Amino acid sequence: MTKPESLVCINGNFVPPEEAFVSVFDRGFLYGDSVYDVTLTYEGIPFLLDSHLDRLESSAQKIAMEIKWKREELTKLIYKGVNKLEGDRHYIRIIITRGGGEIGLDPNLSDGQNLFLIFKELEPYPIEWYQKGVSLVTTEIMKTPKKAMDPSVKSGNYLNNVLALQKAKEKGAYDAVMLNHLGNVTESTSANIWLVEKGTFKTPPLSAGILGGLTRKSVLQIGREQGLEMREIDFNAETLRQADEVFITSSTREILPITKIDGKPIGKGIPGPYTKTLHNHYSNFVKQIIQEEKTKAIKSGLIK
Ligand SMILES: Cc1ncc(COP(=O)(O)O)c(C=O)c1O
Repeated sequence: MTKPESLVCINGNFVPPEEAFVSVFDRGFLYGDSVYDVTLTYEGIPFLLDSHLDRLESSAQKIAMEIKWKREELTKLIYKGVNKLEGDRHYIRIIITRGGGEIGLDPNLSDGQNLFLIFKELEPYPIEWYQKGVSLVTTEIMKTPKKAMDPSVKSGNYLNNVLALQKAKEKGAYDAVMLNHLGNVTESTSANIWLVEKGTFKTPPLSAGILGGLTRKSVLQIGREQGLEMREIDFNAETLRQADEVFITSSTREILPITKIDGKPIGKGIPGPYTKTLHNHYSNFVKQIIQEEKTKAIKSGLIK
């Protein structure tokens, strides 16, 4: 029997994507009252799964939601899904909503949480993105302030990011740079932002109001291990435009060079040497982690 390329798991039941439906009364659908996380597989192994589940738990905690599935149950379901799939590169989205119930904002109306796992084949991104870099534009759509909806929570509230991306696409750019109320750079609509200035790597601190990206965290660690200068520091859009190199980081895209911002080239307008070297180090890190996770998964019977 051929294996599917994509699959959904709803509250523990695996169904084909075309049969995966959510109730119109689900609070995730009505209010964005949900948390989620995204990881991917390399060689059929979910990457940094524990760290992604840690972040999911932390997101849930920050919206006063106690996840009703145990870590082991989630891990087993995720491996079960991955093992059912064709290929060895997949996108995995883990969503937990506060559930359905009577319509009303009050979270106490919830009749219990819902868990959704979406698995789909992860097509490789166009190689030109990495060879030539992609473009960003700054946007007037502000990042949600920490005191409104903390961007460190990976929640179902992405509408201003959606609108910022829409604006970027209208201008022919790949993504948008979102600023905070102080005019400092936060992140793109779905990735963390970095610049390189005279060999020093800079990325906005968590206090700027950003998602604590796991790729960001890995890159900070890898860079420091390599003796590179890595700083978490606030900067504005002009500093970003004047940088020698700029790149964004996310789990699925890894390290993606940015060669144009607001129509102007960054540095020489081609991916820079620091970005490329860091990406090589990151690729080695991925290989090492996958080997470790594979050994762990075999030992605990999650894969054969
Ligand atoms: C708003 C935002 N920032 C940053 C990231 C990057 O996070 P990670 O490196 O953990 O994938 C994401 C990823 O989805 C995101 O949605």
